[in-house]
Amino acid sequence: MSKPGEFVGSLDCGTTSVRFIIFDRHADIIAQNQLEFPQYYPHPGWHDHDATEIQEHAEQCIAAAVKDMVAAGWAADSIKVIGITNQRETAVAWSRKTGKPLCKAIVWTDSRTKNTVATFEAKLQDVGIEVEPGVWKKGPEPLRDITGLPLSTYFSAIKLRWMIDNYPEVAAAHEADELAFGTVESWVLYNLLGGVSTNIHLSEVTNASRTLLLNTTTLQWELSLVSFFGFRPSILPKLVSTSEVYGEIAAGPLKGVPVGGLVGDQQGALVGNKCLNQGEAKCTYGTGAFLLFCTGDEIVKSKHGLLSTIAYQAGPNAKPVYALEGSIAVAGSAIKWLRDSMNLISTAAEINDLAGKESNAGGLYFVTAFSGLLAPYWDPGAAGTLIGISQYTNPSHIARATLEANAYQTRAIIESMLKDSGTSLAHLKVDGGMTNGDLAMRILADVGGFTVIRPEMRESTALGSALLAGSAIGLFGWDITKPETLSEVNTKGSEREKGWEGWKKAVERSKGWEEGVSDTK
Ligand code: G3P
Repeated sequence: MSKPGEFVGSLDCGTTSVRFIIFDRHADIIAQNQLEFPQYYPHPGWHDHDATEIQEHAEQCIAAAVKDMVAAGWAADSIKVIGITNQRETAVAWSRKTGKPLCKAIVWTDSRTKNTVATFEAKLQDVGIEVEPGVWKKGPEPLRDITGLPLSTYFSAIKLRWMIDNYPEVAAAHEADELAFGTVESWVLYNLLGGVSTNIHLSEVTNASRTLLLNTTTLQWELSLVSFFGFRPSILPKLVSTSEVYGEIAAGPLKGVPVGGLVGDQQGALVGNKCLNQGEAKCTYGTGAFLLFCTGDEIVKSKHGLLSTIAYQAGPNAKPVYALEGSIAVAGSAIKWLRDSMNLISTAAEINDLAGKESNAGGLYFVTAFSGLLAPYWDPGAAGTLIGISQYTNPSHIARATLEANAYQTRAIIESMLKDSGTSLAHLKVDGGMTNGDLAMRILADVGGFTVIRPEMRESTALGSALLAGSAIGLFGWDITKPETLSEVNTKGSEREKGWEGWKKAVERSKGWEEGVSDTK
């Protein structure tokens, strides 16, 4: 006889893998499965995903985790609701007629759209945005005021514009009003709820706040921006909150189970880390690193290179909660590069052992600008820069400089956040793969000059999505607390400031390189 359970499933569709984690009501994990899916880098600066592969891997992952849950003695219908959390700005274009993608998805890290950005920068200067009927405002400010974002290769609308301009199939579907655009949560939900047979095309507000098309005050698509980028409004999904029932899964082992939460992965981690109130911050070190600082119900407009974003909307009628965000494009992916391309380590975890052989980076700085620099520098032309190399330099220095690069970029973001918010940061909560390394965390505390709090259960993204989904059907409380460990600062202020000055010089050297990214097929 199988035991009846009351569980919440969390489907985390990340940049390099999909995972399905089944939680009980104490946030303990009952079963989980993870699958990596292919990455495509067809030209320098390009990064594609096959949206169908994301979907297929997600469905396989769900099936495998459910099988494990049943094998552990639980009833097959123990999962009462699922949440979806996802890599955010990656743009998917599919056909409403066939339900199939019209081209590869362009991933958030991709920088092929530099020239598209330049075109729209010029348009902002010359034409501007119609902020009210007949009232045009020029320059970057109106766009920032409406969306909280700067123009950048990072955000989805720019990627979609490039698709329409470069893929005839996408242009034809747009022209024929058959194009469906969505970020990854929108695509995965569309398929789970029945695909072309039901055509349920929704997008959730934290994801939508990364497109350059959402008005973050009204939580509606901003039609002046839809027209500024030259899109037909019909391509857009209907907007929904972070926690509500959107529909039931159409097929597979979870047929009939409601989907009750959708959230961008970084906002999911903010919720999972319980940074729900003004002044609380977390940083997730995954492929990239993303520091979110909750600003409560206030939209803080950054003057120091950060994004204003939606943190969550806890139900269709709930007021949105906002955050300031600093995004670092390359974090764990630099370690992956040391492993896969440089062969300096054979597993990601080994970076801590290698870096630990030296007590400092030997004067080396590694600006990991593999596809330009995001916050707070915003330079798509910045180049990856390893500077300070001498005959003394060894692989351990490089490993250490890689860990320090994350810490310096985190510090740069925190400095901007403090200037924007006027508050100080007592500690930083962290999660993500890189936080498994004790040395990586010590370096973060030493370079950053703040206490680092690392929860023992570091599946914060999945947990956040499970909390949101569970609360949509009244199954899960928000009162879960888990043990944490602290990393205190060990360096002297003077040492820290010397390193910081060196880092700033290295960043200046990396900026404006502009070589090597092609923007045409
Ligand atoms: O903004 C991109 C972010 O959502 C991707 O997160 O965890 O897949 O690196 P991750």
